Amino acid sequence: MTVASTDILTCEAMSIGHGEKVIMDNLTFGLAPGKILAVVGPSGCGKSTLMRALGGLDEPLAGTTTLLGVNLVTASRQERAAILRRTGFLFQGSALFSSLTLLENVEMPMQEFLQAPKREIRQLAEYKLALVGLADAMDKLPSEISGGMAKRAGIARAIALDPEVIFLDEPNAGLDPVSSGRLDELILRIRESFGTTVVLVSHEVPSILRIADFCVYLDPEIGTMGAYAPPKTFLQAGNHAKAHAFFTQARLD
Ligand SMILES: Nc1ncnc2c1ncn2[C@@H]1O[C@H](COP(=O)(O)OP(=O)(O)OP(=O)(O)O)[C@@H](O)[C@H]1O
Ligand SMILES: [Mg+2]
Repeated sequence: MTVASTDILTCEAMSIGHGEKVIMDNLTFGLAPGKILAVVGPSGCGKSTLMRALGGLDEPLAGTTTLLGVNLVTASRQERAAILRRTGFLFQGSALFSSLTLLENVEMPMQEFLQAPKREIRQLAEYKLALVGLADAMDKLPSEISGGMAKRAGIARAIALDPEVIFLDEPNAGLDPVSSGRLDELILRIRESFGTTVVLVSHEVPSILRIADFCVYLDPEIGTMGAYAPPKTFLQAGNHAKAHAFFTQARLD
């Protein structure tokens, strides 16, 4: 696996984990701008931890990672903050503020980072919510909406500041197939309209096959990535047995 100088996101010989504990070792891959990468693997293998490291929220335990041309390991606090401003996150479980309406949730990052009048921020937030199909639910609280709507509201917040890269942790989890399909279309539409690069964690094979250009399979048994390839590759037997099993739900024994 090699990394290209034009990649918008890279990691080389990267170890991730918590405290002293290494969860995944020797991760090396890159992603070109405007591509969609799916991170897959069994529960607890480190997908969310990898996403946080790639997004610059947590430091890797070893190796390097770059995002938007900046080495996140050696970056200063200011450089890191500037990169954060150009990225968006949907955390596992959406993580909307429960006491704020959807509109207020999307306005939050805008109020923090944009020097714009309140009215303008409101219009921008309304636009983002309309984009994700929530024009009629802007004044609702997170407790008053469905899981699928919460995911879409989370995505509206993630794209509030027109990020160049978005990180989505299990955007399809818990959604019925129709809502999941709609969310896939939304992600593709965002990429098409804004050229956004997307890193997403997913267990949903149909969704990954539909939208991802590449897929990194984390294998907890060997403690590193088992494969990095376009997802369709994993449908064929022979290349990567565990990734193939994951994609075809086949048993290995
Ligand atoms: N903040 C933390 N401190 C210590 N250990 C953690 C922390 N967060 C996660 N872990 C541990 O790191 C490992 C990987 O967790 P992670 O959440 O990255 O897995 P995951 O692949 O996203 O799992 P899931 O599919 O359940 O979301 C797990 O063993 C988990 O218990
Ligand atoms: Mg996770």
